[in-house]
Amino acid sequence: MSAPLHQRVDIALGERSYPILIGPRLLEDASLLGTHITARSLLIVTNETIAPLYLAKLQNALQGRRVATLILPDGEQHKTLESYSRILDALVAERMNRDAAAVALGGGVIGDMVGFAAASYQRGIDYVQVPTTLLAQVDSSVGGKTGVNHPRGKNMIGAFHQPRCVLADTSTLQTLSPREYRAGLAEVVKYGFIRDSAFLKWIEANVDGLLAREDSAVMHAVRRSCEIKADVVGQDEREHGLRAILNLGHTFGHAIETASGYGNWLHGEAVAAGMAMAAEMSMRLGWLQQAENDRVVHVLKRLGLPIAPPRIGVQRGRELMGMDKKVLGGRIRLVLLKGLGHATVVDDYADPALEATLQAHFG
Ligand code: NAD
Ligand code: GLY
Repeated sequence: MSAPLHQRVDIALGERSYPILIGPRLLEDASLLGTHITARSLLIVTNETIAPLYLAKLQNALQGRRVATLILPDGEQHKTLESYSRILDALVAERMNRDAAAVALGGGVIGDMVGFAAASYQRGIDYVQVPTTLLAQVDSSVGGKTGVNHPRGKNMIGAFHQPRCVLADTSTLQTLSPREYRAGLAEVVKYGFIRDSAFLKWIEANVDGLLAREDSAVMHAVRRSCEIKADVVGQDEREHGLRAILNLGHTFGHAIETASGYGNWLHGEAVAAGMAMAAEMSMRLGWLQQAENDRVVHVLKRLGLPIAPPRIGVQRGRELMGMDKKVLGGRIRLVLLKGLGHATVVDDYADPALEATLQAHFG
């Protein structure tokens, strides 16, 4: 018997546990999909870019079920209550009941919106994540954070709702634009910065293979990222503490995304520049050596990611960072580094370190 082409990572959350299956050509494996997508009625939600590439493949693999489809416009600017409403409309129009499931075929935008619709339709139905971007395969499809944007803040409206399974077909990454692919690498290297210095070393040694999208490099990167995320989410599903470390660079990054208009700076790009800011602030606090900060900047650059944000202004940056969901009692909590591979969530940092970092990058 030949070895399965896919690898499996399990996320342990009691009765909400589920597998993440990772491998090439998963979408063509009807038997695997049949094992993990068990609902008889399905609504597949995707967008107008992904539909021509992968919708027929997924439909073929799901023959024998009642399958309805909804194709939404593409883009972060459509991650809105209006698109969410269209998913609910389709579920109602197709008379989907509580035994139906929604299937998110796409990147983080589709995955987050479908998850939120599934969380709220008839007070909660199942959904399955079929992530097709690197960012979605290593981050957004795993862990059950779902939602949409508000014009004044990213992901302001949403719910925690875990998928039934995640099916990450790594072959789909071959059609991603270089820019989108590199944005996903920002979330991959994030795991090295926050939790695993050995993984960071592996990334530094495999930048070329990663940029060339070599199968073995991509598989390892997706798998190790999912293992780290599964471990963190398994310990702190609802972000009472530890899970917040997954947001390294995100408080700065969300300010960049919102200030520049959704979709102009990709999420991963904004996170990359945000991680460079977080590293610099950690250095200003004496928590990171100059050489470690240089490594952060160097690996981000080699991965083709931006390290300098747009000059959005200190006041505006601070105001937007104040909208972050981690703000507690009016104080901006930040994820910073105490050495590479060790992130910490803090609100008792010295204010001048934040001020100097904002002046240097946003001013
Ligand atoms: P995205 O969903 O917008 O996808 C990026 C682009 O790639 C889109 O144009 C999409 O149509 C296209 N695309 C997708 N798959 C493709 C493929 N295989 N081939 C060709 N084109 C393809 O963006 P994203 O980077 O996947 O996700 C970003 C979103 O994820 C943000 O809204 C962010 O807030 C969210 N996010 C959520 C979490 C979470 O935990 N829920 C974590 C990180 C990010
Ligand atoms: N992407 C951050 C989280 O899932 O918590």
